[in-house]
Amino acid sequence: MKPDAQDGWERTHLSTEIREEDVDKQVLVMGWVLRRRDHGGVIFVDLRDRRGLVQLVFNPEYAPEVHQRAHSLRPEWVLAAKGVVRRRPDDSLNPDMATGSIEIFVDELKVLNRSEPPPFPLDDETPPTDAVRYRYRYLDLRRMGGAGTNLLVRHKFNALVREFLNHEEFVDVETPFLTTSTPEGARDYLVPSRTMPGRFYALPQSPQIFKQLLMVAGFERYYQIVRCFRDEDLRADRQPEFTQLDMETSFIEEDRLFDIVERLMILVFREILGREIPRPFLRLPYREAMDRYGLDKPDLRFEMELRDITEIVRSTEFGVFRSAVENNGIVKALTVHKGERLSRKDLDDLRDFAVVYGGKGVAYTRIKEGGEWQSPIAKFLSPEERSSINRHTAAVPGDVILFGADSAKVVNDVLGNLRNSLARKLNEIADDEYRFVWITDFPMFEYDEDEKRYKAMHHPFTAPREEDLDHLERSPESVRARAYDLVLNGAEIGGGSMRIHRSDIQDRVFSVLGLGEAEAQEKFGFLLEALRYGAPPHGGIAFGVDRIVALLTGSESIREVIAFPKTQKATCLLTGAPTPVGPEQLKELGLKTVRKA
Ligand code: AMO
Ligand code: AMP
Repeated sequence: MKPDAQDGWERTHLSTEIREEDVDKQVLVMGWVLRRRDHGGVIFVDLRDRRGLVQLVFNPEYAPEVHQRAHSLRPEWVLAAKGVVRRRPDDSLNPDMATGSIEIFVDELKVLNRSEPPPFPLDDETPPTDAVRYRYRYLDLRRMGGAGTNLLVRHKFNALVREFLNHEEFVDVETPFLTTSTPEGARDYLVPSRTMPGRFYALPQSPQIFKQLLMVAGFERYYQIVRCFRDEDLRADRQPEFTQLDMETSFIEEDRLFDIVERLMILVFREILGREIPRPFLRLPYREAMDRYGLDKPDLRFEMELRDITEIVRSTEFGVFRSAVENNGIVKALTVHKGERLSRKDLDDLRDFAVVYGGKGVAYTRIKEGGEWQSPIAKFLSPEERSSINRHTAAVPGDVILFGADSAKVVNDVLGNLRNSLARKLNEIADDEYRFVWITDFPMFEYDEDEKRYKAMHHPFTAPREEDLDHLERSPESVRARAYDLVLNGAEIGGGSMRIHRSDIQDRVFSVLGLGEAEAQEKFGFLLEALRYGAPPHGGIAFGVDRIVALLTGSESIREVIAFPKTQKATCLLTGAPTPVGPEQLKELGLKTVRKA
């Protein structure tokens, strides 16, 4: 059977636009066969279009010839059907379906295209494996209740953002993809140049430098919804190409910027989820976040805080604690309220959890009546130490206290992540709660033990706090940056800073980072130069659009909100990218490939 031409037929209604008021009207619908059911002579077809479903009825008495043709219809065939809207009989009303009270008696049918049997049923609730879904992503997106609906939320998010920022007089400017390295701490993706053999463009890790140049250019308010490229180890919340909502402003400091961002977020959550988010958002200095939660992206939907008990156990008999203290480490406690819900096995498994985050173990105790300890380590701690810990952690009978003893970094990593994991396990997290928090006052630098040098904690264009400038060279680790992150439910959804707008300070920061004058000139000379031509004070922020939409749609991974995402190995299962190229192309580029040992 040859497919029919569309031949001037035009759709009168999308599926869900057909209402009970349309009963007895003639309509023309188009879409895909979701399923066909034969009911003793009558054939029913659920037709799917971009809005939803409508039921087509092929009745042998009503239209014998069309009914005859309906026998051959198969899932995912593409149809155009003309017919009359009827009210469904009372016993076949479907309240779960937007069009559940009507159906269309078809009297003319066109098969616009046929389909091979799809590799997985598109009407099934259970999705096929990821490998199959991404191989046939176009079918996965067509699937009922599949990732397709996430892309509609994403579209709405982008539309709201544009409308809001346009209204606030932000200007949408496009910046280059073929450029030099814009460092954000990841590896660059490189593109070889044909016209300049042996040279490479770098795809931007962010438009950071360009948006600063746009401030020097006098735009004052810029935004862009823009693709960024980072060659880094992938996880559920990371893709090699991802999208930022990137913003920059001049003559505006933290308070004004936070105000704009908060109003934007409130709008988005109201329009998309119907939720009212209270403002101003909480602000938490980095130091305090680390002390209380162990992470710089704390999930504030549940309590459970960390307590430093280093002073209490400074001269303890317990070897694990004492050696941590002696090695300049710390000891912290995490109280799990009603921790009696944790089994012995749960507690013993904590060791493996610690190892994942670089730790060696997690000590624990159960708190019994009268504050008594039930614990393998109870005997190593004096009664004074134990009761002092009880007091300091406010533990009550029924609680469990967990301990980490190591370098501050390891202890915070282990207990901070454990805090999240236990809250999930013990069902302490309300799914429909949204807790925003600004993390502020990040340190300017962190010391990289492997490379034996300081690295910018945000990026090298971030302004140090004015009052810390004096000890920039003397004690870089004590310098605070004017950097901030926006965190939602334990996810870092955005980060930014006020920038250095004076070339002398930019020079000094490069030098702390170990970038010699020549190297700084070579890499960022154009920026240093621009800063000398009347750069206004400026600053901004960039949001991870994929992460925000994942939170808005309740998706486990940002892959579910990206039309054509990549795998953990940064490959595309649909197109096969990356693919080898032929010798001609390599020659043109002046490239040779060698097999890695
Ligand atoms: P930053 O590197 O913090 O800042 O990036 C901003 C936000 O982008 C998101 N993000 C990612 N999302 C998905 N996959 C990735 N691989 C990925 N990497 C980052 C995060 C992050 O908060 N130029 C600065 C911003 C500025 O200073 O204005 C920057 O890029 O949600
Ligand atoms: P051990 O002396 O190694 O048998 O450890 C005694 C208890 O302390 C066990 O519950 C270990 O899991 C725990 N433990 C070991 N190393 C650490 C550490 N660095 N921090 C906290 N607890 C630890």
